[in-house]
Amino acid sequence: MKGRNLLSLADLTVNELETLLDLAQKLKTGYTPRSAANQVLGLLFYKASTRTRVSFSVAMYHLGGQVIDLNPQAMQVGRGEPIQDTARVLGGYLDAIAIRTFAQKEIEQFAEYADIPVINALSDLSHPCQILADLLTMQETFQTLEGLTLTYLGDGNNVAHSLLLGCALAGVNIRIATPPTYQPDSAIVEQAKHLAQSGTEITLTDDAKEAVEGAEVLYTDVWASMGQEDSAAERLPVFQSFQVNEDLVNLASPEAIILHCLPAHRGEEITEDVLESARSRVWQQAENRMHAQKALLASVLGLSD
Ligand code: CP
Ligand code: NVA
Repeated sequence: MKGRNLLSLADLTVNELETLLDLAQKLKTGYTPRSAANQVLGLLFYKASTRTRVSFSVAMYHLGGQVIDLNPQAMQVGRGEPIQDTARVLGGYLDAIAIRTFAQKEIEQFAEYADIPVINALSDLSHPCQILADLLTMQETFQTLEGLTLTYLGDGNNVAHSLLLGCALAGVNIRIATPPTYQPDSAIVEQAKHLAQSGTEITLTDDAKEAVEGAEVLYTDVWASMGQEDSAAERLPVFQSFQVNEDLVNLASPEAIILHCLPAHRGEEITEDVLESARSRVWQQAENRMHAQKALLASVLGLSD
């Protein structure tokens, strides 16, 4: 994957996804790839981040490389310098860049103009790096991904979109339970159906209870994402029946685990007791961001065979 971008999980083949997850597992258990000495990763983040920012930085340092945190407010791009110009200039300095912004189009535009790997570190449309860690966590728990059932409850947002694509590629059945007016983007659903292995089921529903029945993985995310703060209050009553609480968890498989990309709003999309329960894998999942992104960096920088 040397030189490649990761703008969406749909950029990956089934084989590439499997290879990335296997490399992440190897890195987690001590494998050392070739060094990224003298290579520099830029982080261009227009939205807040704890996990993505720190896990990318630590991953790059572990690989032997350096990181520059490019605060857009301190750069000319924050004063209106075009993305196309910024991309060509930064492409001449950096070896890879991870971008977190609002419009997916901006990341795509950057990739079109920069001659280095461009990684989507979250947009309003998608969050591919998160799902690499999620699949790694599921693989660690269940040994295999194919044939598992994951139920996502809440808003049909960026995380739901990337889960649709990632599960389709990995052969995980996915059920998306949202209020009718908060369903995922239909174009992404179609893309996921197109990617899905034969036999992999993709279900959209507004019935939370039916959706969790027998599922091995329950997944939720905030009801109002970054940039949607103004509608947070009006969303509360609409999403109430999609809260991941003990009653809902009891309908899932006895083996079920709970995932959440974090940050979590306790008492909204998930209850405190479920988040802190023995079924919860959210801290392992957060740690896996670092291992999965290290695998991604090692791959796009050509440090691993
Ligand atoms: N899950 C996730 O992307 O977290 P951050 O917003 O803290 O990076
Ligand atoms: N859907 C959330 C994910 C945060 C990691 C957001 O975009 O704010």
